[in-house]
Amino acid sequence: MTTSEIRQKYLDFFVKKGHKIIDPSPLVLENDPTTLFTSSGMQQLVPYLKGQKHPEGTRLVDIQPSLRLQDLDEVGDKRHDTFFEMLGNWSLGDYFKKEQLAWVWEFFTKEMEFDPKRLHVTVFEGNSEVPKDSESLEIWKSLGVSENHIHFYGVEKNWWARNGTFPDTMPEGEIGGPDSEIFYEFPDIPHDPKFGKFCHPNCDCGKFLEIGNSVFMQYQKTKNGKLVELPQKNVDFGGGLERIAAALGENPDIFKIDLFSGIIKKIEEEVGVNYGADPGRDRSFRIIADHLRASCNLLAEGIIPGNKLQSYVLRRLIRRAMFHFHLLGAGISGGAISHVAEDLRNYYPNIDKNWQFVEENLSSEAVRFESALKRGLARLTFAVSKGEDINGKFAFDLYQTEGFPLELTIEILGQNGVNFSTEEKNAFASEFEKHKELSRTTSAGIFKGGLESKSNAEVTKLHTATHLLHAALRQILGEHVGQKGSHITSEKLRFDFSHPSKLTDDELKNVENLINEKIDEDLPVSFEVMSLPEAIKSGALHFFAEKYGEKVKVYAIGNPKRDWFSKEVCGGPHVGHSGEVGHVRIIKQEKIGSGVIRIYATLTT
Ligand code: SER
Repeated sequence: MTTSEIRQKYLDFFVKKGHKIIDPSPLVLENDPTTLFTSSGMQQLVPYLKGQKHPEGTRLVDIQPSLRLQDLDEVGDKRHDTFFEMLGNWSLGDYFKKEQLAWVWEFFTKEMEFDPKRLHVTVFEGNSEVPKDSESLEIWKSLGVSENHIHFYGVEKNWWARNGTFPDTMPEGEIGGPDSEIFYEFPDIPHDPKFGKFCHPNCDCGKFLEIGNSVFMQYQKTKNGKLVELPQKNVDFGGGLERIAAALGENPDIFKIDLFSGIIKKIEEEVGVNYGADPGRDRSFRIIADHLRASCNLLAEGIIPGNKLQSYVLRRLIRRAMFHFHLLGAGISGGAISHVAEDLRNYYPNIDKNWQFVEENLSSEAVRFESALKRGLARLTFAVSKGEDINGKFAFDLYQTEGFPLELTIEILGQNGVNFSTEEKNAFASEFEKHKELSRTTSAGIFKGGLESKSNAEVTKLHTATHLLHAALRQILGEHVGQKGSHITSEKLRFDFSHPSKLTDDELKNVENLINEKIDEDLPVSFEVMSLPEAIKSGALHFFAEKYGEKVKVYAIGNPKRDWFSKEVCGGPHVGHSGEVGHVRIIKQEKIGSGVIRIYATLTT
């Protein structure tokens, strides 16, 4: 079965069960500084899982492109990827375990036609705070699952929350619950005793592959560290499209599914070696395929390689893919990398639509990496020629300042007859850990800071200021100006838009003046909920149309019926009158890609 058939069957199945299809969120949530990337389908639904009413009702379904960096180090094996598509269905205080487990079983055994004998399920065994999930056990039995295919695990395996896997490490306010997973067993794969005496669904030997997870999202962590029941009992299901396709293909290697076949073939063409021909090289094939898929999806959303947050991750992904090209003997070439990535256009309409932007930025990052590599190489060969001690710290410094990968340092040292000892590898790893710890703290800060600033009045003002800026740019520069991305913190706004060159001083001044004029006019800010076609008809700007749900909010600044200053499809929040914004000052502009300009602005009183 193709991945597009799987997607369709899943949506159709849950629509038949009364679900509404919602649009997935982008990988980088606009104006949501709480998290770097969308990492599961439930992310956009958190307020609704907590009890808010969702405009589409209580039964929802979608396919969510997701990015998980905690799996980064594992990418290279047959079943991990950073970017993946998650089939998701939700009950927002509607149905619960009985319906969910029966439907998911029906979907896998009837729609996907998995042999029930190959399926295993897992159930939460209980702990001091949350009882054993006997209800799920009974449901699975009633569905005909034999008891030796029902396995019990504790919180490490059968508890799910976005942050902190176990109830006791869940941050305050976080929601979670016990879950029940479904695994596919590959009968022909023998258990590898390296992973323990006995094989079981959560064994890492590769005999089992998790294909779905029903989370019974019913708890929230309170201030005093206790778990309390949410006002409603929810279901949050997620199933990895790639893994389901792999299991259906009776091949545990997700890189053999249709989505990857074109990209793998192109890598084969570039490097002149076939995937699967040499196990030593397969890891590089997988890393290239995964990282390029993740990178192109990020680029297609307007993210650009850089040194901070999402941009930094994107840079690391592209550079790591390129480095593995180098390991395969194909050199580092922007042309080659774009050629390989181009196949993704066939599977991802957003990449296809934005291909020019994707390709330009991919190639220019390749050029930058090439020169970083040259600088790194020069430093390294100079140090080698001087007989300097190339230790773990030196290698880490090279990695951190030039993005020069450890594998490459080792390879070059090897070519010079220098051995990089295990001790030094450990020293590198410990520097790396220190750094990771630091970035983890930073991300925790993002999470926390974000939650605080989300409700922050400054963010709301900046959000409205962004609409004013967008409208002013279009009025002064022309209608070719379109939003490419935006990001808001409690201090400033960043707005990326299409325009061939930086603005002149006069243009900048005129834009700023126009915004402030509209602020002084104290125009009303209002919204109306309508369908996307109605929104388009009403003249609302809608640059990210593919990301919206069936019903959208249209925010107008000025009279929404005529002569408005700004009208945009947007989720909000906004101030009630433009005068509440204060005044806007443009602080900086940059050209960040071909045809894309970035403006930073802040508020003054
Ligand atoms: N949120 C759960 C997960 O990511 C189920 O969708 O596994």
